[in-house]
Amino acid sequence: MSEKQPAKASHRSSPNSDAFRSFIAQGWAPRDQTRPRLCEAARYAAPRRAALSEAFPGQRLVIPAGGLKVRSNDCDYVFRPHSAFAHLTGLGSDREPDAVLVLDPLEEGGHEAVLYFRPLAPRESEEFFADSRYGEFWVGARPTLESMQAELGLQTRHIEQLPDALAKDAGLVELRVIRDADAEIAALVDQVRSTSGALTSHEQVEQNALADAELARHTSTMRLLKDEWEADQMRDACAGTARAFEAVVADLPEAVRRGRGERWVEGTFGLHARHHGNGVGYDSICASGDHANTLHWIKNTGDLRDGDLLLLDAGIEVDSLFTADVTRTLPISGRFTPAQRKIYDAVYAAQCAGIEACRPGNTFKDVHAAAIRVIAEHLFTWGLLPEGVSVEESLDPEGQYHRRWMVHGTSHHLGLDVHDCQLALREDYMEGELRPGMVLTVEPGLYFKADDELAPEEFRGIGVRIEDDILITQDGHENLSAMLPRTADDVEAWMARILAG
Ligand code: GLY
Ligand code: MN
Ligand code: MN
Repeated sequence: MSEKQPAKASHRSSPNSDAFRSFIAQGWAPRDQTRPRLCEAARYAAPRRAALSEAFPGQRLVIPAGGLKVRSNDCDYVFRPHSAFAHLTGLGSDREPDAVLVLDPLEEGGHEAVLYFRPLAPRESEEFFADSRYGEFWVGARPTLESMQAELGLQTRHIEQLPDALAKDAGLVELRVIRDADAEIAALVDQVRSTSGALTSHEQVEQNALADAELARHTSTMRLLKDEWEADQMRDACAGTARAFEAVVADLPEAVRRGRGERWVEGTFGLHARHHGNGVGYDSICASGDHANTLHWIKNTGDLRDGDLLLLDAGIEVDSLFTADVTRTLPISGRFTPAQRKIYDAVYAAQCAGIEACRPGNTFKDVHAAAIRVIAEHLFTWGLLPEGVSVEESLDPEGQYHRRWMVHGTSHHLGLDVHDCQLALREDYMEGELRPGMVLTVEPGLYFKADDELAPEEFRGIGVRIEDDILITQDGHENLSAMLPRTADDVEAWMARILAG
């Protein structure tokens, strides 16, 4: 329904004669009518919808996938649905632009889930051959209403029916929409709401915003706990990511030789990401030398030099859109220098303390507290904290001197989004207890910029981060990325094995 079409080029034309239209509509084999089986992802999406239904009784919940986004001129980005939509339908990569999931309240209680989308157009339609954004000739065949219904196990209707479905009892049923997923659908919902007329427009805008924010927060918070299928998706994302890291190591000599080696690394990782899953879950950080001290270095324009470190922070997003988020800091020559190893070992010790704190009963922020204490202790031992400042004084909220060298947090939740569950309240996220099924990163680092005059000269230009993806279990945790080495010795031995071919 939402035709967010870029401007049409006037020099292009589609064949349009009656003779052509009739000719192109004929001579095709009958469409395959076989219904797909209910997909595994959908089996797990149904109980999630049931939980959401229980939280918002009697209300109509609108969860758009979002539309195609223009990259430039008439080229779109590869489509990725909104994470709330993916979570509640089970649809993953590329599916389904402009679709909208509606949980429609039933009189007898509960909701009916209906997926509104743009089904496969008939061969007699102009879209079939002429629409470069949606047409079968251009981007391939879409599912039919029947096949999508069989695949997802929910009711499906044509997207053209959505406006009436939303407006049918305007003023009687409260609507909520995930606003940031699709501005046009949010506007449509607002239009329906405005017909109830009970509030001034200003009051109404505020009330709508609050109602919608609560829905968004709820869908984000639901994702804090992963079910067994999601945990398996995360295992797969981590396994693919580990293999991509190995491929990067195998290609390091080539990356050094070619120049602009950070890009070579990015490409090698990206190749494996695209091959294994949907792609990278976020822009890969391929940071050599001092670039490692720029936390989100994604320009990746630098050379790789023997003697420097490569900080590679990269993760594969599998087809269901769950992503890994892993960092290894590798000596490009295959061997750490003494200064690099000193810093690496400190970060490793901090990470071990953080991972050790990953167990039910602890809170999320306990993980950071455990890791950052080790960081502060090392900085104190090295004499880098200001004169007379103890570890405890630095750890005090009024101190925090050590954060000069690790300004980021140690952890975040991980899942469909690399920084998952971002809308959850502080009491559920930061202060929340760790529970079996949560997945979080543990990623301490130490960063000594080349121009840091407070750092020892031998440390300047060295940045180290080690990041793993940790599933909380009944009795502790499972390190999902444990197939990649973590100690300095193991990293060297692993690299030597790969580079020996
Ligand atoms: N890759 C981004 C992060 O580690 O949070
Ligand atoms: Mn990362
Ligand atoms: Mn991370």
